[in-house]
Amino acid sequence: MDTNPGAGVTDEATVNIAEFLAGEPAPLSEYARSIEGSTILQIAADIREMLERGERVLNLTVGDFRPDQFPIPARLADFCVEAIREGQTNYPPVPGVMELREAVQELTREELGLNYPIDGILVGGGARPILYASYMALVDPGETVLYPVPSWNNHHYCRLARATGIPLPVTAEKNFHLDRADLEPYLKTARLLAMNSPLNPTGTCISRDALFEICEAIVAENERRRTAGERPLFLIYDQVYNSLTFGDARHWTPMELVPEIAPYTIAMDAVSKRFSGTGIRVGWGIGPPAILKKMSQMAGHYGAWAPRPEQVGTARFLRERESVLAHRSHMRNELHARLSLLDEGFTAMRAAGLPIEHIAPQGAIYLSVRFDLIGKTVADKRLLTNEDIRSLLLSEAGFAVVPFEAFGLEGNSGWMRLSVGAVSVDEVRGGLDRVKALMETRT
Ligand SMILES: Cc1ncc(COP(=O)(O)O)c(C=O)c1O
Repeated sequence: MDTNPGAGVTDEATVNIAEFLAGEPAPLSEYARSIEGSTILQIAADIREMLERGERVLNLTVGDFRPDQFPIPARLADFCVEAIREGQTNYPPVPGVMELREAVQELTREELGLNYPIDGILVGGGARPILYASYMALVDPGETVLYPVPSWNNHHYCRLARATGIPLPVTAEKNFHLDRADLEPYLKTARLLAMNSPLNPTGTCISRDALFEICEAIVAENERRRTAGERPLFLIYDQVYNSLTFGDARHWTPMELVPEIAPYTIAMDAVSKRFSGTGIRVGWGIGPPAILKKMSQMAGHYGAWAPRPEQVGTARFLRERESVLAHRSHMRNELHARLSLLDEGFTAMRAAGLPIEHIAPQGAIYLSVRFDLIGKTVADKRLLTNEDIRSLLLSEAGFAVVPFEAFGLEGNSGWMRLSVGAVSVDEVRGGLDRVKALMETRT
């Protein structure tokens, strides 16, 4: 007799479930069917395979930090642990714990020179939920959203919001940012402009003049709409990399240049890039209280608030101004060490006649590099597309990069994003040597 009456039943049930799972999936929603897998994840799979084979790869693909290279500040870790030990483990208030909102209010005043009321600050589980809620609060299905390409994830947010995205290609000549003239044809009809500076994937900072003129154009257009009784044109300003700028590059915030844009603007920042804490999941938006209130109500339903211990830990850390500043200069130095090595390496290759162009480091964790190899033959491979160049660099030089195509820029320009959050200085040196040797074989 079977002494464990449940044994056979459990096994059989497991088998049955597996059979169900292997069958035809039920027809999914239009949205689910329209979702595409991430190009970067496919590249990551190629890299994993090479690493498993014991090959050397300089992984410049991920927009993340390797914790051994970029740990979070020790004080931030201590405060988060302290908060969990204190029992800060129940639901946080939906707009964020007051301690953190107050700390963000102070940070916004100190760093950006902007005075926001406490209801103008909303905490979320990273920048993403704030971005998502902004789209959902501002844009109706079918309405138009303008955004530059290359840029990060706007086409996904448009799809989530059922919006009509209008990608506006930007070029190296204009430092990969929009200007007023790019927007002119759409100003009267668009509902939202989504911007990001320093920009993922290019690492470039928008100039003061270009941002000022864009803000002025939005304010003027909204003056017209107010008189005509139309809904305004809104601005999302994603500034998650604002504390990471290099050399003479300076970050500008729309509201400091044109205060009248404040009623139409939601800006966001996060622990993710500022403190290399991508897994901590704390971000915040600043904006008009009436809009943030609605975003907060949404967040209450989808539950993407930041974990309470991390909120409390972040609040306490932000209040330690010297630690925040010390970490900022530490991150800038570490990132700059890697980016400037690449900058110098590519400058030398170009001086030696190799077909490479790049933009010197300005901000974020990225460098834009153009491998001008379309139509050329390297290592006996004829290169016709960005993908050809990307896979050649990976397979022949263990140099892993992401083409701008992955960020919505069509065409085979040869421009690639190099991200330095997951590599050491020595690894960068080795990668550059391999690329140089490979490029020298071109015909
Ligand atoms: C421009 C930009 N905004 C937002 C995010 C996401 O931030 P978080 O991880 O805080 O959701 C990223 C992540 O790569 C990013 O590059």
